[in-house]
Amino acid sequence: MSVIAIDGTLASGKGTLAKCLAAHMGLPHLDTGKLYRAVGYALLKAGHSPDNAGVAIAAAQRVNLDLLSDPALLHDDVASAASKVAVIPGVRAALFDAQKAFAAQDGGAILDGRDIGTVICPNADVKLFIDADPEERARRRYDELISLGKSADYDTVLAQLKERDLRDSTRADAPLKPADDAHIIDTTDLSPDDALARAIVLVEAIIG
Ligand code: DC
Repeated sequence: MSVIAIDGTLASGKGTLAKCLAAHMGLPHLDTGKLYRAVGYALLKAGHSPDNAGVAIAAAQRVNLDLLSDPALLHDDVASAASKVAVIPGVRAALFDAQKAFAAQDGGAILDGRDIGTVICPNADVKLFIDADPEERARRRYDELISLGKSADYDTVLAQLKERDLRDSTRADAPLKPADDAHIIDTTDLSPDDALARAIVLVEAIIG
């Protein structure tokens, strides 16, 4: 059984990489950001501030994996709320067991997020950390918004991305950072296919 932990920054390509690597290896995949998004969404829907710790913890205790395919979780306001509820230690604690259980299933699993290699699966067989320059990540996010027919301003996208990077990497509990034994993949100049190919080479070298 192989457990693969994939962490990284916003719009670094980690989600696509995790999904494609999971398909390539025939492993189940959990996008753990969706758990935090589900909590953020529950608060927004009920008219609460994402900074309301008590309500956020109660919402996190009710989150289950069946809620994660809701397209509403993809909205930018939900992403921002997710980043805010993710700083609350009680929210992280409430989501811990579901992630551990997913990782422990027979046959192994791939999880992607911000703290998989450091907190959720410190004994993962392979740890990857995916990153790219902020300007390139903002360009990807901007292009995505435009292709979805939304209006977007590149400088605003870049500023919001830097704000989320800062909040994710400076929070006291489980901050975003590469595990000491993570393999870093910088996707600034890589296509999604190139990043996947690099990940496959690394994984096969480690677990065969
Ligand atoms: O990967 P994403 O954009 O869907 O994540 C949304 C937010 O959730 C992100 O800003 C930080 C938080 N998150 C986290 O703290 N830990 C994780 N394992 C996954 C996401």
